[in-house]
Amino acid sequence: MAPELSFFDTHAHYTDSAFDDDREDMIASVRAAGLIGAVNCGTDYESSLECIALAEKYDFLYAAAGIHPEDALKYSPDNMNKIKGLMDHKKVVAVGETGLDYYWDQVPRDVQKENFIANIRLALETGKPVIVHDREAHQDTLDILKKENVPAGKAVFHCYSGSAEMAREIIEKGWLFSFGGALTFKNARRAVEAASVIPMELLMLETDCPYMAPVPLRGSRNTSANIPFVAEKLAEIKGLDAQTVCEITNENALRFFGIAK
Ligand code: NI
Repeated sequence: MAPELSFFDTHAHYTDSAFDDDREDMIASVRAAGLIGAVNCGTDYESSLECIALAEKYDFLYAAAGIHPEDALKYSPDNMNKIKGLMDHKKVVAVGETGLDYYWDQVPRDVQKENFIANIRLALETGKPVIVHDREAHQDTLDILKKENVPAGKAVFHCYSGSAEMAREIIEKGWLFSFGGALTFKNARRAVEAASVIPMELLMLETDCPYMAPVPLRGSRNTSANIPFVAEKLAEIKGLDAQTVCEITNENALRFFGIAK
């Protein structure tokens, strides 16, 4: 593993209780490992506030604020308005994470859709990009993003799990994709196929930590320090070296989130 790789983690959860015992040490160690920036994603109003608090503490950490599909029962126009109030904060770079989750299916689908649409509209209104969680809800997710006319460069499918065919529709719209540890899994044939058709300028790297640790660390607590395993895998798929993959995906991330170099 090239120790000199520099990488941007476009989707992390360093506010998760899995980091309660060693959060500061962990953040210092991933910084030392080559992390140049990370976006911690909120899942509801309270967790969005926590992401912002962490971003205020570390110059290289940023925050996304929004309501996750599994928390969609918390959606109300009032609650969304509170989240809107966070969007002016200088470290808030996106709306999210939001979307549809038909795998857990804990929240009625019409409630999930109403929440997703409200989050998208907040992104459109504020000019921020939206971080999309799509789990086994590919068609509805795509339909809603299309119907809401989300512009090119303003949405990312995080931990992309759709087909190569669906990827082509997303590419046509100019939306982005991020890949994490799941790309390295043995059964990741579909994700590998999708990644192979996506142009490099639409790709970003992520962890979704503490979840989704890549092979060979699958099942352990994930951190941004494991991103090089994903970069290596993407490099292999694209016929590039990991450093080039990091350079391009870092540029993409800075541009997507509107972060000045
Ligand atoms: Ni997440």
